[in-house]
Amino acid sequence: MEFRVLAIGDVVGENGLDLLVRRLRPLKREKQVDFTVVNGENAAGLGLFPAQAEEIFDAGADVITLGNHTFDKHQIRPMLEENRYLLRPANYTARAPGRGTGYYDMGRCSVRVISLQGRVNLNYNCDNPFTAADRILKEAERATFTLVDFHAEATSEKLAMGYYLDGRISALWGTHTHVQTADEQILPRGTGYLTDAGMTGPVHSVIGMPAEQSIEGFLGGLRGRHTVAGGACALHGVLFTLESGTGLCTAVERIRVADAG
Ligand SMILES: [Fe+2]
Ligand SMILES: [Fe+2]
Repeated sequence: MEFRVLAIGDVVGENGLDLLVRRLRPLKREKQVDFTVVNGENAAGLGLFPAQAEEIFDAGADVITLGNHTFDKHQIRPMLEENRYLLRPANYTARAPGRGTGYYDMGRCSVRVISLQGRVNLNYNCDNPFTAADRILKEAERATFTLVDFHAEATSEKLAMGYYLDGRISALWGTHTHVQTADEQILPRGTGYLTDAGMTGPVHSVIGMPAEQSIEGFLGGLRGRHTVAGGACALHGVLFTLESGTGLCTAVERIRVADAG
């Protein structure tokens, strides 16, 4: 049986969220998607409000993953504890609220989603994501399909994780860097892979922020309060076609959906 998984890169700001709400369901119909994972860590610019998480679920997400901005909006804490479809990185410490992995019974098959965060150039106190993945795959109930959102800065760390988990999981995609990479592939042992899914946010921006604000920081000035750029948005993601017999991937397609103009 074929099973199609759509992973959407970091939703940035209200305009990015608006694009997701308008375009996700038509996209799912067009691509015959069975399961959708959306990274929501930037819906509030930095972090995610509970009402925005509800909007992302209503838009058609089965699972929302997060990343280094998980706790930037403290209001999300109760939802992290209560909603098993909302995941923060699994390699956070045991004191961190919420969970990093979920098992979902889809009737004709089951899906495990694992959120992990990298450690290269990311300031957060988390365990080694490689050994965390080993531990989860060893201990967790086995699902027909296992999906990993690896939220990491370095392409090397993401590629290394892809090869490390190749053949043990169905698909892995990167999030966090907000720029879609063009290296979609099936790794040698059958895992679907893309280094970064890209973002769902303003096209004319520096990873979501107004260019002039970002440039000011690089010039040595003060960036000031974090804001999200205006203007037209694009949705970026990746579509994996999986096979239930093997639990592995048979096709990978990069996704880009943008409004005209
Ligand atoms: Fe992000
Ligand atoms: Fe991030």
